[in-house]
Formats: sequence, C-alpha cells, structure tokens
Amino acid sequence: MKTELIIALNQETFLEVKEFVEKTDKVAHFFKIDAGLFTRYGPDIVKYLKDKNKNVFLDLKIHDIPSTASRAATSCIEMGVDIINLHALGGFEMMEEVIKASWQFIEEKRPLILGVTILTHIDEAAFQDLFGEPKYSLEEEIMLLAQLAKSAGLNGVVSSPQEIRRIKHDMGENFIVATPGIRLPGTEVDEHARSSTPREATIEGADFIIMGRPIYTAEDPVEVITMINHDIEQGLENKSEQKKGGNEWQI
Ligand code: C5P
Repeated sequence: MKTELIIALNQETFLEVKEFVEKTDKVAHFFKIDAGLFTRYGPDIVKYLKDKNKNVFLDLKIHDIPSTASRAATSCIEMGVDIINLHALGGFEMMEEVIKASWQFIEEKRPLILGVTILTHIDEAAFQDLFGEPKYSLEEEIMLLAQLAKSAGLNGVVSSPQEIRRIKHDMGENFIVATPGIRLPGTEVDEHARSSTPREATIEGADFIIMGRPIYTAEDPVEVITMINHDIEQGLENKSEQKKGGNEWQI
C-alpha cells in the first residue's frame, strides 16, 4: 500500500492557487480545497483543478440532517471530486444516507467518502466541555466513531497521526486513513498539538498525508514536495522492513 501526499490549498485567492498549481505542476497531483476557498470560488476552483487532471479532496466536512447531508454530498460528487468528507458525529443514519446517495453514480464517479471523528484541536478538556463527564476517553470516542463510520459504509477517516496505527489495527488495513498535522523533521508545527513527520505517519500506516503551509508558503515548493516524497519513500522502506521482521501493527 502506498502513502500519497495531498496538498491543502488554504491560500486566500484563486490567483494564488493558480500560481501555486502552475509552479508545482510536475510534482503535485492531489489537492485539498477547504470551505474557505470553496465558499468564495465555488465549483470553478474544482473545475480548474480537474481540467488540469489533478485529484481533488473537497474538504467541506458535511454535518446536517440525513436528507440535507446527502444533497450536499450529491452536489460534491456531481463536480467529479475524488474525496469528500463528513462528520461521523452526524450519526449512522446521516452517513448511511450519504453512502446511499453515492450509489446513484457509477463506480468510477464515486469518490472516497471519509469520516471526520473528533477534530484534532479538541483535547480532553474541550471534549469534556462538549460531552460533560464522558463515559469514554477521547481516544475511545474516536475509535467508536471510526467504527460507526465503517459500519455505515464509509471508506475511511481523517485522523491525527496518533490514532493511525490503532485505527488500522481495529478497522483493518483497507480502511483508509488520511492524516493532517504533518511536518518535515525540525520544522515549525504551527498550531498542531500532535504533529508527526511524513516518514513516521507512513510507518504508522497513513494512506494520505495532508500538508499545507509548509509547502505553499515555501520559497521553493517543488523542493519541499520532493523532500516530503523522499521522507515518505523512506517510511515505506522502513515499513516493509518492519513487516519482514514480523512487527506489523503491534501496539
Ligand atoms: O497548513 P497545514 O499543513 O497545517 O494544513 C493542514 C490541513 O489539514 C488544513 O487544511 C486543515 O483544515 C486540515 N485539517 C483537517 N482535519 C483536521 C485537522 C486539520 O482536515 N482534523
């Protein structure tokens, strides 16, 4: 299984996005569009990337009553995006309705549908603010939501690097994990409380690594992308060595 880089386009303007995509054309193939850019520029920005044969993760984190959520997901799928996501906290019925909506489309048109468990800025204290004295720990709640997402038919989840190994262990290797909060060794981690390197996240089993600022703010983004891909390659080598040694998925 390979690990692929998704570049989070969190720039302010379409022009900045275009300049970045042109500059990195040869080495960057998968982009994430957030709600900020999509709210401002809408389907045009998706079309721009698809016309350039890029893969698109439309990160709108859908969360609503089942019928509204499935309408939103249908509109995303009609644009031809490759990954969409929704909050697992919307519940089983909401997730299942979105999956059913995706069945209207032929298999090649169906994107990967990922669940967001608990957002990575939520720590134990914020978790208690939300749910009172919880029955489960934050990590247990994340696993519960990942399980719910899986049983509703989702392809995987977005999770912090910390949970990758356990999710893969409990949900199976084919359950996809996309992970943000990734930084090259020795660089600024920004607001990410729990950060990891591309190599570490690859060893843990991430299918997709999501990185934004370290790439699009760099003077030479092509060089940074090349470094990240090299770090991922090293991770893949380490992982296959671990496998040979019989250490896989031990927690
Ligand atoms: O710039 P940076 O590499 O920190 O960007 C990380 C990206 O991952 C942002 O677009 C952020 O919205 C996204 N993210 C996410 N889910 C989380 C945490 C961050 O999609 N739980």
